[in-house]
Amino acid sequence: MNRLQAVRQRLRRGPAPPLGAGSDQEMVDISHQVLLYVEGLSVSFDGFKALNELNLYINDGELRCLIGANGAGKTTLMDVITGKTRPDSGQVYFGQTIDLLGKTEAQIAQLGVGRKFQKPTVFEQQTVFANLELAMRVEKNILATLVARLSSENLDSISEVLDIIGLKSQHDALAGALSHGQKQWLEIGMLLIADPRLMLVDEPVAGMTAQETERTAELLTSLAGKRTVVVVEHDMEFVRSIAKTVTVLHQGSVLAEGSMSDIQSDPAVIEVYLGEDP
Ligand SMILES: Nc1ncnc2c1ncn2[C@@H]1O[C@H](COP(=O)(O)OP(=O)(O)O)[C@@H](O)[C@H]1O
Ligand SMILES: [Mg+2]
Repeated sequence: MNRLQAVRQRLRRGPAPPLGAGSDQEMVDISHQVLLYVEGLSVSFDGFKALNELNLYINDGELRCLIGANGAGKTTLMDVITGKTRPDSGQVYFGQTIDLLGKTEAQIAQLGVGRKFQKPTVFEQQTVFANLELAMRVEKNILATLVARLSSENLDSISEVLDIIGLKSQHDALAGALSHGQKQWLEIGMLLIADPRLMLVDEPVAGMTAQETERTAELLTSLAGKRTVVVVEHDMEFVRSIAKTVTVLHQGSVLAEGSMSDIQSDPAVIEVYLGEDP
C-alpha cells in the first residue's frame, strides 16, 4: 500500500447514512475529524487539466495553507468547493455525509462555506459599520426592512466582529477611506457575520504592507479552531508565520504536504516551486 492509499484508508468516509435519514443529513458529521474531503478531483478546460486527480483532506478547526505557482489550480479548487465550477470527476464532501457536488452555490454557502475573493469588494461609500450591517441583513434575509432596527443580538454580533477584525475605532469611517489591508479585514468581517464553518481565503495579503500582513496572520490564526480556514497564498513569509500544515499544489495535484520545514526541504518542491524564488 503506498502512502496515498494508506491515507485514504485511514480517512475513508464511513458508510452512507440510511435512506430517509432526512434533515439529519444536513448536519455536518465530523466524527472522523475531517471537515472537507476532496478525492480524485479533476477539472479540465478545453482539454487542459487544471485539477488532476487531486486529493485533499482538511481537519475540522484546522488552518491550512495552500501554495503553488500561478496556474497550479488553487483558485479552481476553491471554485469547485463553492459550487462555481463543476468537476469532470471526483468527490467533494463536507463532513462524512454532505456531497457538495450535488449542491448549488447558494446551498453550499448556506451550509457554512464562506469564501473571500482576492479583490476586496466592500461598499466604499458606506461606513465600516454599515458594510457589516448590510452583510447581517443579507445573512438574516431582512434586506426588505432596511429601515427596521437590527436586534440587540444582531448589533452584538457586529460589535464582536469589529473586535475580531480590529476595526472597532474605525466603525464610523467610510470603507473607501480604509487602507487596502483594512478593507481586506472588513471583507473578512463581512464573511464572519454569516458564522461560516469553513472559510476559503484567496491571497489575503497580496498588496499589504509588512505590518498588515503580520496582523492578517494573527487574525486568520485566531479564527482557526472554532472555524476551519483554508488560505491560498504566494507570500512565503506569511505562510511561514502562520506555520501550520502546508499543501503544495503543482499542475493540479498535490505535490507535497507537511510542516513548512518539511516543505522547504522537499527536493520536488524546491525544484518546481521554491526554486523560483530569488
Ligand atoms: N474558466 C477557465 N477557463 C479556461 N482555463 C481556466 C479557467 N480557469 C482557470 N483556467 C486555467 O486553469 C489553470 C489553473 O488556474 P487557477 O486555478 O486559477 O490557478 P491558481 O489559482 O493556482 O493560479 C490555469 O492554467 C488557468 O489558466
Ligand atoms: Mg488563483
